[in-house]
Amino acid sequence: MTFTMVLAWASPLLFHGVLRLVLIQGIAAALWSVVLRQPYWWIPIHLLFLPLAIAMLALQLPSWLYLSAMLLLALVFWGTVKGDVPLFLSSHAVADALAAMVERENAAAFADLGAGVGSVAVPLAERHPVMKVEAWERAPLPWLILAWRSRGLANVAVNRANLWDSDLAGYNVVFVFLSPAVMVELGDKVRREMRPGSLFISSSFPVPDWPPESVLQIADRRGTRLFCYRI
Ligand SMILES: C[S@@+](CC[C@H](N)C(=O)[O-])C[C@H]1O[C@@H](n2cnc3c(N)ncnc32)[C@H](O)[C@@H]1O
Repeated sequence: MTFTMVLAWASPLLFHGVLRLVLIQGIAAALWSVVLRQPYWWIPIHLLFLPLAIAMLALQLPSWLYLSAMLLLALVFWGTVKGDVPLFLSSHAVADALAAMVERENAAAFADLGAGVGSVAVPLAERHPVMKVEAWERAPLPWLILAWRSRGLANVAVNRANLWDSDLAGYNVVFVFLSPAVMVELGDKVRREMRPGSLFISSSFPVPDWPPESVLQIADRRGTRLFCYRI
């Protein structure tokens, strides 16, 4: 912002239109983003933020709409504000691959840590009715959808709880689809708690400095890779 003010002060002509100021602000923010080595996807965000804010103001929408949108996003992306893991969903192809893996493992107990709306936990529980499936999810809205989807499945337990409070000793297979930010800490927890011979599977994000037993390439839109670690 200071940079914007200096730029605007240095060229008074630019103050003539709000649009010009908006343009300068966006470019200045984008440039700072490059200087600060933020990920590249911040650049369009910086460029578009103020123009979109002004466009929304021009629409004169009632203020409760903004509050409702913010509350809805908070209920879905609970914890993300602190830099935690957001919600995005595994594909059907990932669920199919995991169903085949738990069958090969002859797993009696499976956990999805950060289960979202149950894209993995629900189909696995349906296909393996004798396997116990435990889903851990902290965000209120995904948890509610997950609990609703699992309501008729006797072999599913849904915990509205922090995955860091789980005890992994009781599972034969543990699945996660989280974020690179937590993989070191999670790898430590897995090695500490899971029993020898059991299997830890991480979708998309490997555990640093732990060579996986195998990596499964899934033919879905994202080109998901499943990193499999034998304890
Ligand atoms: C990328 S989504 C994956 C959802 C699901 N496992 C799937 O594969 O479709 C990650 C989920 O983990 C949840 N999550 C993140 N941190 C968590 C934590 N500490 N405890 C419980 N859930 C968490 C998020 O709310 C989000 O729903």
